[in-house]
Amino acid sequence: MTTTKSTANPAYWEPLWAGGRRYRRLCATERQLMANHLGPGLDRPALDVGSGDGTLARYLQHELGYRTTGIDCSPTAVALAAAHDADHGPGPEPTWRCLDVNTGDLTTLPAPAYALITCRLVYRWMGDKPAFLDRVRHLLAPGGTLWVVTEIAGRRTSTDPALTRLGISPTDAELLTTGWSTVRTADLDVLRCYALGP
Ligand SMILES: C[S@@+](CC[C@H](N)C(=O)[O-])C[C@H]1O[C@@H](n2cnc3c(N)ncnc32)[C@H](O)[C@@H]1O
Repeated sequence: MTTTKSTANPAYWEPLWAGGRRYRRLCATERQLMANHLGPGLDRPALDVGSGDGTLARYLQHELGYRTTGIDCSPTAVALAAAHDADHGPGPEPTWRCLDVNTGDLTTLPAPAYALITCRLVYRWMGDKPAFLDRVRHLLAPGGTLWVVTEIAGRRTSTDPALTRLGISPTDAELLTTGWSTVRTADLDVLRCYALGP
């Protein structure tokens, strides 16, 4: 496991969101991968961890049919997500919560267990990855799926350290995939998507 100073807290993320920083959008290929691996939701509960401005949670809610909750530790990100609620017209929107997945009280979430937990561009930033995976795993319903999207180290042609640091190491990839009964993966340029089943 790569040991780094934790960047999984509001002190790191809130200034980025408040300063206008935004992250990679969902492309058609990524949406199709999720539809293939995760859909249909059939109104089952889903939890998007580190939901940012809510794009993925809205996709789960409105396109795949999950009853979705998005949590993020940045108040600005959660406010941005909620501000989009009117975009979809009538019908239930995702539930948004400002919550730190590592330190917050997860018993306050709307459901005790989730058929789907998603975590996109978030795992890389977790300081204590085993503890993070343990907390998330305890929220998965039997037969549920943990969907993790993360950049893999070594896939960029750039040597800019600001970009190459975005990928996870082989050790962190092994940590992520250890102890699951099913592990399916799909590659999307510098990203890898993991569908993990307990
Ligand atoms: C790179 S952004 C990705 C946002 C979104 N998942 C996306 O794909 O656009 C990482 C997100 O994780 C959130 N985050 C980081 N640590 C967190 C924590 N401990 N609890 C909840 N959210 C966290 C950040 O606030 C940020 O919104």
